[in-house]
Amino acid sequence: MNTLADFPAEAQLKPQIARRRTFAIISHPDAGKTTLTEKLLLFGGAIHLAGEVAARGERRRTRSDWMEIEKKRGISVSSSVMMFERNGIVFNLLDTPGHEDFSEDTYRTLTAVDSAVMVVDAAKGIEAQTLKLFEVCRLRDIPIITFINKVDREGMDPFELMDQIADKLALELSPVTWPIGMGGQFHGVYNLNTHDWHKLAGDGSTKFGTTERLTGLDDPKLDAAVKPDVLAEFRGQAELVAEAMPKVDMEAYREGHLSPVFFGSALRDFCVADLLDGLSAWAPPPRPQPAGDVAVDPNRDEVSALIFKVQANMDPNHRDRIAFARICSGRFSRGMKLNQVGTGKSLAVTAPIFFLAEERELAEEAWAGDIIGIPNHGALRVGDTLAEKGDLRFTGLPRFAPEILRRVRLGDPMKTKQMRRALQDLSEEGLAQVFRTHLGGDHIVGVVGALQLDVMASRVEAEYKVKIEFEPAPFATARWLAGDPKLVKAFVDVNKSVVADDVDGDPVYLARNAWELNYTREKNPDIRFVEIKEMH
Ligand code: G4P
Repeated sequence: MNTLADFPAEAQLKPQIARRRTFAIISHPDAGKTTLTEKLLLFGGAIHLAGEVAARGERRRTRSDWMEIEKKRGISVSSSVMMFERNGIVFNLLDTPGHEDFSEDTYRTLTAVDSAVMVVDAAKGIEAQTLKLFEVCRLRDIPIITFINKVDREGMDPFELMDQIADKLALELSPVTWPIGMGGQFHGVYNLNTHDWHKLAGDGSTKFGTTERLTGLDDPKLDAAVKPDVLAEFRGQAELVAEAMPKVDMEAYREGHLSPVFFGSALRDFCVADLLDGLSAWAPPPRPQPAGDVAVDPNRDEVSALIFKVQANMDPNHRDRIAFARICSGRFSRGMKLNQVGTGKSLAVTAPIFFLAEERELAEEAWAGDIIGIPNHGALRVGDTLAEKGDLRFTGLPRFAPEILRRVRLGDPMKTKQMRRALQDLSEEGLAQVFRTHLGGDHIVGVVGALQLDVMASRVEAEYKVKIEFEPAPFATARWLAGDPKLVKAFVDVNKSVVADDVDGDPVYLARNAWELNYTREKNPDIRFVEIKEMH
């Protein structure tokens, strides 16, 4: 039998792209994102043994031991990408940092996905960070599948959870799997569509055992195994779901009005495979990517890609960087020459990388929807468009005006050069923003959340051997200056003490407080003080 790979590339384009699912998992810390990620990889055949609970702390440390701060805080701050294939579907799973201080990085990662899985802790329901990330997804029209995790433990009543999610997120819900009891009464999970009953192992634990396909909710096999009161409650709930809640409607889901819901347990392996089946069946294949007024069709012949993340110093012994590029259209093949739009430079991509679960592989070919890593020495920036032809530029990757500004103080003045290099590298990576004041040449670091400052200082020390500290800056807020270049220049010339350049050399106005910002704005009506800068 011929496989897709036997056909010429032109004939493969559409089917190859159609079988790709590029998605992220969003959740509040501790809901189970790490566990679910591992299990998706395990069920997707990408790894053979997911880290057991005891081993996981160790594995987590290994995975990110280049980043001291992760060890100290026990949080994951860097996004990564994992690719795997299951039943003919190619999944690209993008990991998002869990901590709220990294919202900007998360935001950028979410520009590179077509759908998301939202993990909710069954005992806690919708938490603050889930809500925030959900809002970002809604803003970007990213459809969501909900995974209600930890049903092996005592949790909220399933209907109470449904009501809460539906209310807080203004979303219709369509349950696909439903727990038979929870916590002490847990008897597995039932798939309302397939009538698969995922049963317990039977060894007194809450581990997954086998799956059995039943004839329906009234199958006597349930009566033989489940306590009558638990079963009666489950049957009542399942009937109510069938009567009162909508079936999965793919269009409503893809438009973001409805979320299919899976109750399950990542740790105990319940419904991870069902979730993968749901993603395969319903999640959208690569969607058109916005580039100004047009949307670039993924099935275009010409290759185009968007750099949504840059990771510096993945290997501390080399100053190399990896740029993460989402292929937005066409078929990419290794060695291809791509233009870095806007710079006039062309780049031969000779060593592109696929990120498989625990290893990397040279990417010989990639299709729209795939994420490749491009090693480089700093030429590629977040927001860059790479294109085989033409000068289209992808849009929608923002940089936010920082909410915290700090002046950098260097311990050892002999290390100025290294410090500049470090600040430049890490700001190009998008970790924080660095501004250089016109008068005095001070380095001002701007962040959205305070934890970014710690990460910055710790990485500068670990990766560049430079100790820096942050001291209060006399500024509270920053705005990019836009408008007629002549007027902007005139403003810059007379306001040197409160103007700095960002990493791209674009001028930024620094205000001591909100009042001053408003005052300056009123005095300069022809200049725009921009809060969100579109990266280019
Ligand atoms: P996160 O990435 O979203 O922060 O969550 P993570 O997967 O690390 O899970 C948080 C905690 O919840 C972990 O326990 C994990 O074992 C537990 N957990 C995840 N899924 C399930 C589930 O389906 N059922 C139950 N009962 N627990 C689950 P921990 O004790 O904080 O971590 P560890 O010390 O065991 O690694």
